[in-house]
Amino acid sequence: MRRTAFPTPRLPAIPAAMTNLVYVLNGPNLNLLGTREPEIYGTTTLDDIAGMLEDRARELGLEIEMRQTNHEGMLVDWLHEAQAEDARAVLLNAAAYTHTSIALLDAIKAIRTPVIEVHLSDPKTRESFRHLSYVGMAAAMTVEGHGADSYRIALEAVASGTV
Ligand code: DQA
Repeated sequence: MRRTAFPTPRLPAIPAAMTNLVYVLNGPNLNLLGTREPEIYGTTTLDDIAGMLEDRARELGLEIEMRQTNHEGMLVDWLHEAQAEDARAVLLNAAAYTHTSIALLDAIKAIRTPVIEVHLSDPKTRESFRHLSYVGMAAAMTVEGHGADSYRIALEAVASGTV
């Protein structure tokens, strides 16, 4: 086998294309926000959050693609899609899959699109099984514990170029 005298030069990582599109992906049971354990998650519905984010996105010159699913593989497919669509970033509230899904960890690592982990509550102050976050192991940033405002803070981080 021939060996080259010099190591192959490494190409710089291809920067993600800069569209104004931000995917906002929501996992299981978040469709029930508003009535689901309001003492933890508040009474704001996912539609309310979508409306608030769309308004803020417009002010920031961004565009929101808001989705919710109760199925893990769908979140994986949407993460791939976000990259294929050259999304600027993904805000991901994977809900309970945060704490269980190696598939989501791998998907976040597999794409160049930066992912911000978002939670309404602060899982680190809740049951110990919520302290592990597979999503957080690969996410560029985590915003948690601010209720619906966690999404807005994450969107503003995208707009400011923090992520
Ligand atoms: C959540 C926190 C998770 O631990 C939980 O499973 C959820 C919601 C949040 O937004 O606070 O479903 O992601």
